[in-house]
Amino acid sequence: MKIKEAAFLTSSIEVTMCPKPDKPEYAFIGRSNVGKSSLINMITGKAGLAKTSGTPGKTQLINHFLIDNKWYLVDLPGYGFAKVSRTDREKFEKMINNFLFERTNLINTFVLIDVRHAAQKLDLKFMETLGINGIPFSIIFTKADKISKTAVNESVKAYEAAMLQTWENMPKYFISSSEIKTGKEEITSFIESLHDLYDPNLLLS
Ligand code: GTP
Ligand code: MG
Repeated sequence: MKIKEAAFLTSSIEVTMCPKPDKPEYAFIGRSNVGKSSLINMITGKAGLAKTSGTPGKTQLINHFLIDNKWYLVDLPGYGFAKVSRTDREKFEKMINNFLFERTNLINTFVLIDVRHAAQKLDLKFMETLGINGIPFSIIFTKADKISKTAVNESVKAYEAAMLQTWENMPKYFISSSEIKTGKEEITSFIESLHDLYDPNLLLS
């Protein structure tokens, strides 16, 4: 799928202030610095649309982007960054959880995982919470340009083994690099295939 128009819509401090849930919505979630904002810029083809930084903790609000006037892409703060104060960490966690539980138009959540790292408890726990609560998600392995193709394959295989200790099946996953722009077509086509799951009647509930 080709994205023609992508525009920043609004930043919200909490879920109640987010735009009306009148379009299918997809969110990028994951640890601080994993590459959520960079991935938004890569898949929309607009460098600088979402603010990125080498310093973790850059995204602090719920950011909505309107894509082709048809769907929303959401950039969220990262979770689990040790250097963020405990108060801020709790604030971000609450913001993320309320968002996940309350957005009636959220069709799919993409959990971003740095492909270089072995499975970490915090991410596994986060995905377990999504599963238990019936919140659909997929995985995007990020920063694939930082290691060799063989190392990427080995790392994904190891991640799959870790997931299969608790999951019956490996969730759908993608491999991406915002640096060398890989994974874009797979991710956007998948998003496009999900639009029909959006039920405008849920707006009434
Ligand atoms: P927070 O908003 O702090 O939670 O971080 P984030 O997940 O939005 O990460 P962000 O996109 O700001 O990227 C963090 C750092 O990783 C930046 O220095 C990016 O340039 C770098 N980065 C992101 N994606 C890639 C990638 O695919 N390859 C490489 N080499 N660097 C990347
Ligand atoms: Mg960010």
